[in-house]
Amino acid sequence: MIKFDDSFMLECEEIDKDHAWLNQLAEDISAAIDEDRAEDCAELARRFVSLCKKHFGAEESLLKRAGYPDAQHHHEHHQSLYGKMETIVKLGEAAATNELARKSLKKEVFYLLMDDIINEDLSFKEFVHKMSKAQAKA
Ligand SMILES: [Fe+2]
Ligand SMILES: [Fe+2]
Repeated sequence: MIKFDDSFMLECEEIDKDHAWLNQLAEDISAAIDEDRAEDCAELARRFVSLCKKHFGAEESLLKRAGYPDAQHHHEHHQSLYGKMETIVKLGEAAATNELARKSLKKEVFYLLMDDIINEDLSFKEFVHKMSKAQAKA
């Protein structure tokens, strides 16, 4: 499992809070599986996906407000993750009775998180950081 540490912080409170909360839910899913509470996975997976969608919307509107030049590209990246989110909901529903679904679910939630944060969000870290510094000075 990847350790969620300061290197994943974008230094933008609104976004970092969402990422930390998503990471917590991913860990809750993992714990439910390890502790033989896989019947909790359906609800946890639905919550994870619903927070992801909300987070993507909030992140996109923040990038637009900030005038981030690649906002459209980031929107498309988020869109490309919708299929994976549907898979996560289905795996959550199957987890109570299916060993393979439990194993896949554990991986998929962290992959999704890493796809969003490591692969893409860190690319606007500097931009967002500069913007919030400029706002603080104004
Ligand atoms: Fe993102
Ligand atoms: Fe994000």
